Amino acid sequence: MDQNFIFSKKILLWYRTFRIQDLPWQLNKTMYKTWLSEIMLQQTQVKTVILYYERFIRRFPTIIQLAKAELDEILFLWSGLGYYTRARNLHKTAKIIVNHYQGNFPRDFDKLVALPGIGKSTAGAILSLTLDQHYPILDSNIKRILIRYYTLDYYLSENKSETNNTLWLLSKQLLPTLEISAFNQAMMDLGRLICTNTSPICNHCPLQEDCQAFLTHRVHQYPKKKPQKKLIKKTIWLLVLLLQQYQTKKIWLEKRSYQGIWGGLFCFPEFPSPNMLNIWLSKHNLHNNPHTYLPSLKHKLSNIDLEIKPILLNLCKKLNYTKNGIWYNLSNPPIIGLPKPISVMLQKL
Ligand code: ADE
Repeated sequence: MDQNFIFSKKILLWYRTFRIQDLPWQLNKTMYKTWLSEIMLQQTQVKTVILYYERFIRRFPTIIQLAKAELDEILFLWSGLGYYTRARNLHKTAKIIVNHYQGNFPRDFDKLVALPGIGKSTAGAILSLTLDQHYPILDSNIKRILIRYYTLDYYLSENKSETNNTLWLLSKQLLPTLEISAFNQAMMDLGRLICTNTSPICNHCPLQEDCQAFLTHRVHQYPKKKPQKKLIKKTIWLLVLLLQQYQTKKIWLEKRSYQGIWGGLFCFPEFPSPNMLNIWLSKHNLHNNPHTYLPSLKHKLSNIDLEIKPILLNLCKKLNYTKNGIWYNLSNPPIIGLPKPISVMLQKL
């Protein structure tokens, strides 16, 4: 029998027998739900995504509602999930689909990959998982299975075209003729639950007897570890301007530019040094206001170790300052996107 046929047969049999959970986006699948979940699942684990997905789909049950929404509300629901470009692209794509496709997702691969935030793998996932169309997926879980099964000397995170071409070719060749949706989902689940990065459970794997890494006792050597990118240490100073009027406490937050980290989210004014902060205070006649250093916070971004040093300054009247920002009412918070460490700090004020 053909090796690829045996491979897919084993995967499908495993899936039928051990299918463990139905994730919320797998019930009554639509292209909208698959698309949303796949975008959320990029660079984010299933267990983190579930609650975000459920909240999101409750608020935006259809793409029409999503297209009509304010970006601030989308970023509000995305707050804490990270990689905020995903949320902005989600909004752009929703608007294109409503304006150019009458609110219906195109069922065509080329049209899907042309949409913001949808790459080859996500387009394949949308078409195969929802409509059983014959497209492969190549996410990190599937890559790990293939790299171990064939003992390929590739880094998981490598995006070199030669590596990717081989992996795409393999994932395409292994697709069965029928049951594409089940096969692709099974591969992702196998990678996530059994062929895991650090503690693979090879004794429960349907591919064990042909897996080259297992047969040569080298499962833990695959995928090869890429030399770590150097972590950059960065310190930022954040100015917490607190305005207390009667019983209400308000904090000044500024909308960040769409470029750079936390794009489009709201944050305290940020400074690269205490000196710059002092210059800003003098410029706004605030240098004589008493201020206190709050406990500093650590936050990890993909390759940046961020240290946040917040400085609290009490105000008795609003600033004459009109930069794109808002007075955030702590007892009646507005619907805006907030980076995780900022919402943690706001909760403590
Ligand atoms: N990772 C990316 N997409 C996934 C999916 N549909 N199921 C499980 N893990 C995934």
